Parts: sequence; C-alpha cells; structure tokens
Amino acid sequence: MTSTARPRRRPRWRELRPMLPPVPTLPTTTTRLAQAADIGDLRLLARRRAPRMVFDYVDGAAESERSLRASVEAFDRVTFRPRVLRDVGTVSTSTDVLGRSIALPLVLGPTGFTRMMHREGESAVARAAAAAGVPYTLSTMGTTSATDVAAAAPEGWNWFQLYVVRDRGRSRDSLQLARDAGMDVLVLTVDVPVAGARLRDVRHGMTIPPSLRWRSALQAVRHPAWWADFLTSEPLAFATVGGAPGDLAGIINTMFDPGVTLADIEWIRSACTDRPPYPAPRATRPRRSRRPPRGRRW
Ligand SMILES: Cc1cc2nc3c(=O)[nH]c(=O)nc-3n(C[C@H](O)[C@H](O)[C@H](O)COP(=O)(O)O)c2cc1C
Repeated sequence: MTSTARPRRRPRWRELRPMLPPVPTLPTTTTRLAQAADIGDLRLLARRRAPRMVFDYVDGAAESERSLRASVEAFDRVTFRPRVLRDVGTVSTSTDVLGRSIALPLVLGPTGFTRMMHREGESAVARAAAAAGVPYTLSTMGTTSATDVAAAAPEGWNWFQLYVVRDRGRSRDSLQLARDAGMDVLVLTVDVPVAGARLRDVRHGMTIPPSLRWRSALQAVRHPAWWADFLTSEPLAFATVGGAPGDLAGIINTMFDPGVTLADIEWIRSACTDRPPYPAPRATRPRRSRRPPRGRRW
C-alpha cells in the first residue's frame, strides 16, 4: 500500500525566522500598556506599579465595599444581544451632550489627587479624554489647576466638578478659576456630605499626600518607579481649593459643607453667572426650596 501523507522536509531558516520571539528587552511603560488587553489588565499593572496604599485609595470603597461589588455585579449582568445580517459597515458611537457632539456616550468623571497616581495626573487624563473625543471633569480636589488642565488639553472639552466647601468664598473662587480656564460645564457632587469609612485607607494610615511610614518605606523598595516619580515631582497639593494635608476623612469633614441643600444651587448659579452674587447661605440656616431659574447655563 502506498502512503498519501505529504513528505517531510527540513525547516528553512528563512521561514523560521519570522516565527521567533524578538530579542528580549526591558519592558517599558509603553510596551506594558500596549500588552494590556482590557481594564482588568490595566488594573493589574497599576497594582504592580503603585504602593498598596495608593492603589487601594483608587481601587477601594467605603465600609465592607458592598456598593462597589453591587455596581460591578450590575455591569456584569448587562449583556449585548447579538443581531446579525445587519449592515454595520458604517457605525457611529457619537452622541449629543448639552448641545455638543461627543465621540462616545462617556464622560471621564472627576477623581481627586490624581497626581498621586502618576506625575502627569489630571493633565494626562484630560489629554486622553481629548484624544478620545469625550469630556474630562476636573475635580475640586484636583492636584492640577484648571488653567494647567486647559493648557494640557486645549482642544478637549474640559468640565469642572464642585464640592461645596464651608468657606463659600473658596467655592466661588474655584468656580471663577474654572470659568476663566474655559470650563463651561459644572458637575455638582452632592453625595459626599461627610466622608465614608474607607477601611482600606484607615488600615494603611493613608494620608494626602502619602507619608513615609515604616511599612510604606519597605514598600518603596518594591515600587521604586512610583516613588522615584513621586519624589521628583512637584509636591502634591490641592490646586483649586487649597487646604491642609491630612487623612482623607479629616480633609473631607473639615472642608466640605454637610449642610448643602437644593437652596444652595441658587447660590451656585449666582456665583457662576455675572450677576452680583447672593450672600453665601449658612449651612445651618433652615431653607425653603426654590425653583432655580430656567434656561441658564453656569
Ligand atoms: C480614586 C477616585 C477618586 C474620586 N474622586 C472624586 C472627586 O474628587 N469628585 C467627585 O465628584 N467624584 C470622585 N470620584 C467618583 C467618580 O467620579 C465616579 O463618580 C465614581 O467612580 C462612579 O463612577 P464609576 O462607576 O464609573 O466608577 C472618585 C472616584 C475614584 C475611584
């Protein structure tokens, strides 16, 4: 019986060479980021790069983190229903927000202390948002000024987020700074009247800016890139509202006004327009809720 199998042959170098792995080089940030396939991979990269205290500030939530888990589970329950045999040759993810077209139905939310994660902090996030064609929101607790964010991403649509602080003069000044920097949308955060009990931060003895304790000093050895970045950058400070360093809960409970109600929106509107501002309401004064004037942007 004759065999029908194809005959073997010796491998040729010319054919083998493209299959061989490249000469190993030390991984750079660019190559690591390029290898990250999804947000989970990026999270692992961040976990490896940053000291645990810093990573946990970003990754953690309050108390037993039940709400965080519930949010993740809610997203996990969302599935896409496949529809086939439809012409998807031309698709668009763009949508309109406040009369402007954005590339995706997504806004980059405000994050405080962003320079703690990386030297370029808020500026880098604003540049990324501009490149993706979506808005970026600078936090009241940002570590880069509105002017610097606008300079870093002049072509981006940069928004400003306000936490109302007890010293209304400071709140008014931060709104003014944001407006001067061309930020024309205000995001008002109202769900932090008092600090949540963020247990990971408590256990780490987390302070803003991070301070070197024995444990964090040991971690410095394991995260040299982060510490080198941190120690050679401009010191961390709140660029908009000022304020003394300390533990996060202490900062929030000293600075933020827990008495903010709907009536304060009226004051914020007045502080955002060119009308002479109303006197700042006192947190403890009982208020009647009034309908805000219609049709006015901040
Ligand atoms: C590290 C971190 C810092 C944050 N800082 C702020 C902040 O300064 N101001 C604010 O309004 N929200 C802040 N948030 C809340 C986010 O803007 C956002 O509303 C929240 O993470 C929920 O959105 P998500 O489900 O897409 O994460 C912060 C969230 C994180 C994770």
